[in-house]
Parts: sequence; structure tokens; C-alpha cells
Amino acid sequence: MCGIVGYVGHRQALDVVLGGLHRMEYRGYDSAGVAVLTQADGLVVERKAGRLANLVSALDDAGHGAFAGTAGMGHTRWATHGAPIDRNSHPHRDTAGRVAVVHNGIIENFAALRAELEDSGVELSSDTDTETAAHLIAREYDHGSTAGDLPASVRAVCRKLDGAFTLVVTHADQPDQVVAARRSSPLVVGVGEGETFVASDVAAFIEHTRDAVELGQDQLVVISRDGYDVTDFHGDPAHGKPFTVDWDLSAAEKGGHEYFMLKEIEEQPDALANTLRGHFRSGRIVLDEQRMSDQDLRDVDKVFVVACGSAYHSGLVAKYAIEHWCRLPVEVELASEFRYRDPVLDRDTLVVAVSQSGETADTLEAVRHAREQKARVLAVCNTNGAQIPRESDAVLYTHAGPEIGVASTKAFLAQVAANYLVGLALAQARGTKYPDEVAREFGELEAMPSAVAKVLATVGQVRDLGSRMADSRAVLFLGRHVGFPVALEGALKLKELAYMHAEGFAAGELKHGPIALIEDELPVVVVMPSPKGRAVLHAKMVSNISEIQARGARTIVIAEEGDERVRPFADELVEVPAVPTLLQPLVSTVPLQVLAAEIARSRGYDVDKPRNLAKSVTVE
Ligand code: F6R
Repeated sequence: MCGIVGYVGHRQALDVVLGGLHRMEYRGYDSAGVAVLTQADGLVVERKAGRLANLVSALDDAGHGAFAGTAGMGHTRWATHGAPIDRNSHPHRDTAGRVAVVHNGIIENFAALRAELEDSGVELSSDTDTETAAHLIAREYDHGSTAGDLPASVRAVCRKLDGAFTLVVTHADQPDQVVAARRSSPLVVGVGEGETFVASDVAAFIEHTRDAVELGQDQLVVISRDGYDVTDFHGDPAHGKPFTVDWDLSAAEKGGHEYFMLKEIEEQPDALANTLRGHFRSGRIVLDEQRMSDQDLRDVDKVFVVACGSAYHSGLVAKYAIEHWCRLPVEVELASEFRYRDPVLDRDTLVVAVSQSGETADTLEAVRHAREQKARVLAVCNTNGAQIPRESDAVLYTHAGPEIGVASTKAFLAQVAANYLVGLALAQARGTKYPDEVAREFGELEAMPSAVAKVLATVGQVRDLGSRMADSRAVLFLGRHVGFPVALEGALKLKELAYMHAEGFAAGELKHGPIALIEDELPVVVVMPSPKGRAVLHAKMVSNISEIQARGARTIVIAEEGDERVRPFADELVEVPAVPTLLQPLVSTVPLQVLAAEIARSRGYDVDKPRNLAKSVTVE
């Protein structure tokens, strides 16, 4: 949520910053802005409401010559405080226009700080929380005990701020440095030859360097051509954690695809294979990081999965697998509800926190709440070193690679796969599965990338179906057993991408209310259980389909290859390969992703950047 980038080096800062913003626009697209420290005119700022393209054309109109300089920063916004209009766009400046600040997060005590500034005669020109930071830093730099020292001035202000924030700050008097500070929101440093970067995400600088440094909580970094210097908010020396990014520029580019989401859907076999790779060694499931003992895993007597959105749906799938394999009760809870509900947690509770970004505020707060109650936390995360894995007792990384499309696809499938690994790790530790059974289940998982590849080879039919469904007013999704979370996920994809009313239901619930929604020609997508693996459920589902068909619905049925019994009830039949029942979501979700993307495309929407959304939701 909000992407920020800063640069000091030997290139034109404007080019580097715009390149970075281009790769981080998925983090928010309500406005974009840049600030460059120029030799000719000091600190120069341009910012525009709307997509990055608006900023780019404003810069083209002004001429890039006005922004010549080798230090600068930029921002792409997902609005929190203040409407998405020009004057609320970042960077924000102090009254004299000598300090510029870009910000990701929320300054929670901004109302008090704003009142204090106004009482002292400062006129604020925006409705944002960020602008207060610009004025406060200017005041410290001009008059405080830290006068003339930009890093010290930023540190002094950071100590006064409450909330989660990353700030990047430039000052007209300091043309060779950019200062950045981090509390809870992400910030990484990129280290190049004679150039240094800071950004919310390595994607911003991956074109220039793969050497990165992750900053810790309450740390401040000063970047210059010669490198970087880290301190805590009191000025004591501190260290970030160096790492090498394990993917390259091509992973963050569309590679000839019309949109990122389509590319990411196609990358799913690799995302699955990479997520599973290396996790079965010497006959045992192994996690990536385990800061708790095997005995702790054995002692687990209850599991909570906490997550949001698609990640939550991956948790719903996990419940079926973990309860079946481990004979442990599993509760799956929306992270935003978890900590306000006083859940019953203790040392023997395992909380599995699932998050692609690793920075979702609700999930992070759920993790903190769980740990305060002494529960153990295992993070399933796609972002190396993000805050959620940092604060957890164990970590399993999904290796889906960067996901740029705002709607989750490959990261979701990777989460489902990683959650199965969590289930197997628990079953192994608790002895509810013999080693040979764990090995067999893992072997079945290893066959899934090629099953997903088979589904992908047949999506032409679904694209065609999607373009024919573009005028529908609403779509319902039905499933049973592990097909139920798949139905929820299919409905979520359609809502967020095509802005269409969509609901997912457990098919058994239909007669308890939702069947009243069925009307002539209403498309209903049905995720069928396997006729062999789940014969009883299959029969019940066939009855459900005939009930809705009798009431005029148009049925779109996702069924296992060779499922002849369902064929007469399917107005459209989409076949997926036969796979073990518990693993079925890995194949049956894929057509629903393609369907949503195609309906959105046919309706003329931006598939990668749905309205009002951002990739990482770092506010509650
Ligand atoms: C939907 C989607 C969101 C995310 C949710 C959690 O397509 O992408 O629902 O799944 O915002 O995000 P993470 O996994 O980053 O915590």
C-alpha cells in the first residue's frame, strides 16, 4: 500500500525513480509524484492525481531537463488520509519548500501533531497525515537541537510519530543524500556500484542491482553514492540484513503477455514446483526457518489459520487437510476479526499466518496478538524477510516469485501448497502419519505442477466462456468440501476484477436461502467433487445442480475429466484432471481465475489494477 523509492547515484534520478514507480504501481495508483534535487533549482517536485501515466505526461510537458539531478525520490499512492487529488499527492513539502517527504503507512497521532503545527502558525496545504512530517522535519532542521543535520532531524521527528510508517526525506541543502526511516511498513536498500536505492519493494531497483539490505524496525538509513549508513531512531549504529534477490528483471516484467495476471496464471506450475522444492529431505518435511522445537510442534493441540482475502481462502482449504491428516482442530479466521474477538490461545496453540506480502496490517496485528497470548506462530509468506515472517516463530516461504497483478493467482496456489506442507509437517511431528505416508502425500503434491499445466493447456474454452458472460449482472459459485473455498475464491476474483456481483456458497446451504436468488439465465459456477474420491458428495451436488437448473440457472460446471454423470446437467462443462480430493483446489481454482480475468477484460477493465485496491494492505 503506497510504493516509495529513493535514489542517489550517477544516473538521472528522474529516470531511475520513474522506472521504480512503474514497477511498484501495483502498490497503489491513486496518485504519483517525484522530487529531484537539481543543481539549477534545488528541490523540484511534480505530482499528479490518478495513474502514474498522468505524472509521466505532466513531466513530459514540463520537459525532463527541469529535473536534471542525480538524487531524488518518488511515490505511488493508495489514499488513506485525504481524497486522491493533486494537493494530497506525495511528495509533501514544508512551507518554504525545502524539505520533501514521501510516506507509506499511517501516522496515527497526526491530528494532534497537525493541531500543534497550526497553533504555531503553520498553514497546511493538504489533508494528509504526511504533510505534518514535512513541517516537523523542517522545524527540527531549522531550529531544533539537531539544526543542520537532516538524519538527526528525521530521527527526532520519528520518535514523535505513532503508527506504522516508512518515510523518505530530501532536503534542498543536502543534494547528495536521501534519508529513509522505517517502522513496521517495508523498506529495503539496494546497493549498486556508485549508486544506492531505497524502496518499499526490491522490484523498484531490480533492474539495477540484486544486492539488497532489509532494514529492521525503527531504523533509519542515509543513502549516498558511496553506500548507506544505518542507525536506530536514537542515532546508535544499527545493521540491516543483507540478502541477494533470487529473481531477476524478467520476473517483474510482462514478458509479452497482455497483462501481468495472465502471465502469473501461466506461471502457476513453476510457482508450485518452487514452493515444494527442497521441503522433503532425508524422508522428512522441513520448514525454512524454525525458531521453535520439534517438541513444540508435537505439543500443538489446536491450530488457527489467520489471513485475509485469498490467503484466508487458502486457510479454509488447509482446514480440510490438517484436520484429516493430523486429527487436530483447526479454526480459520479473518485476521481483521481475530484479535478483537478474544480467541482462546495458549502455548500449545499454533497460529498459521498466511500472507503473500508479509506486510498485511490485519495479519501482522493478529500475529502480534497471538504471540502476546504465548501462542506459536508459523508464517506462510511469499516475501523474504517481510515483517510477518520476522515476527513469527517459524516460516515457510512460498516461492511464487513477484506477483504484480493485484488479484492473487500464483501466490494463492502457492499458499495452498505451502499449507499442505504445514499439515504434513504437523502430521509427521505428531506421528499421525507414518513416514511412508508423508512421503506418499508429498509425492502426490509433487505431481500437481504438471496437473496445473494440463489445466492451463485448455483455458481457451474458459476465455471464450468469459467473453460470453461479460454482460451478466451477477454470478453465483457453489462448492462442497474443498470445493467450497474454491467457490469463495472464484467469487472474490470476479468481484475484484470485473466489479460484478458474485457470491460463493456451500452448495448444501443453497436451500437455506440463496436459492431465492436463482432466476432465468443466472450463471452459476459449480465446483464438482470427484465422482470417485467423493461419490456421496458428488451425488448430492448433482441434485443441487438439477435444482438450480430447474429454476432457470445457466450452469457452468468445473468437473473431473470423465465425469459423465454431471454432463447432462452442465450447460457448460470445464474439465480438469483427476487429482487426490484434498488437492483438488490446485486444479479447480485455475479456470475460475481465467474466467474472472476474461470477464474483466471483456468489460474493458484494467485486469492488473482493479479500482480502489492495492496489492499490500498495510492499514487496518
Ligand atoms: C485477492 C487478493 C487479496 C489478498 C489479501 C491478503 O485477489 O489478492 O484478497 O489475498 O489482501 O494479502 P496478503 O496475502 O499479502 O496478506
